[in-house]
Amino acid sequence: MSSAPASSVAVGDGAAVPRHVAIIMDGNGRWAARRHLPRVAGHRAGMEAVRRAIRGAGTLGIGALTLFAFSSENWRRPAEEVGDLMGLMRFYLKREIDELDRNNVRLRLIGDWRRFDPDLVRDLDGAVARLSGNSGLLLTIALNYGAQDELVRAVRKVMAEGLAPESVDTAAIEARLDTHGLPPLDLMIRTSGEARLSNFLLWQAAYAELLFIDTLWPDFDAADLERAVAEFGRRERRYGGR
Ligand code: FPP
Repeated sequence: MSSAPASSVAVGDGAAVPRHVAIIMDGNGRWAARRHLPRVAGHRAGMEAVRRAIRGAGTLGIGALTLFAFSSENWRRPAEEVGDLMGLMRFYLKREIDELDRNNVRLRLIGDWRRFDPDLVRDLDGAVARLSGNSGLLLTIALNYGAQDELVRAVRKVMAEGLAPESVDTAAIEARLDTHGLPPLDLMIRTSGEARLSNFLLWQAAYAELLFIDTLWPDFDAADLERAVAEFGRRERRYGGR
């Protein structure tokens, strides 16, 4: 990822559309609790919201969409919930892969996801390979992802490659992040009213616009995404200048 400014694109009426949007999909548990449903019902409904977000991103002309699906801290949840989330991911890949392909979506994964169960890793590898020839929306799913862990892994690569300390600069770190090659992050959205980054894309968010909205993730729809893009268009980005 380069931190070059002016990454958004102007379309139609000239309003800026973010090239790269990341979403912290929060509030599945609260959505379920309000309905007296088990947490897994919230995650299942969250999966439908993922579908809407992907479609909406395509419609709005967003080039890259990055979703925080499982954090490196989510292992602390009860084993049953972790198992439910893994099961949902398997189900999602099987059910959605054809539609993703039809819609020309490319898939990328970030995080230490190879630590998942071997059969899920195989399914994930298969999905990435299947969609690798596409040229449309670049969908990135963060799995077993933590930004601090990503930075530690990048620093380890720098050291393992024996780089001279004076040659280590921001470009050297960026080239070794999981997100290397993705467009600069323009907009980070977190749902459910919480206003923190929770170890998501900390480096990449350096100049991103942050948007915290009250909608619980399972209720997130095309209109929420449109409003977020409109709000992004109203922000003035200065990158430290004036
Ligand atoms: C946060 O809500 C959400 C998660 C930890 C998981 C996100 C997973 C999905 C949206 C479904 C699967 C996704 C894919 C890509 C197949 P929370 O449980 O922390 O909610 P709470 O804060 O209200 O308890």
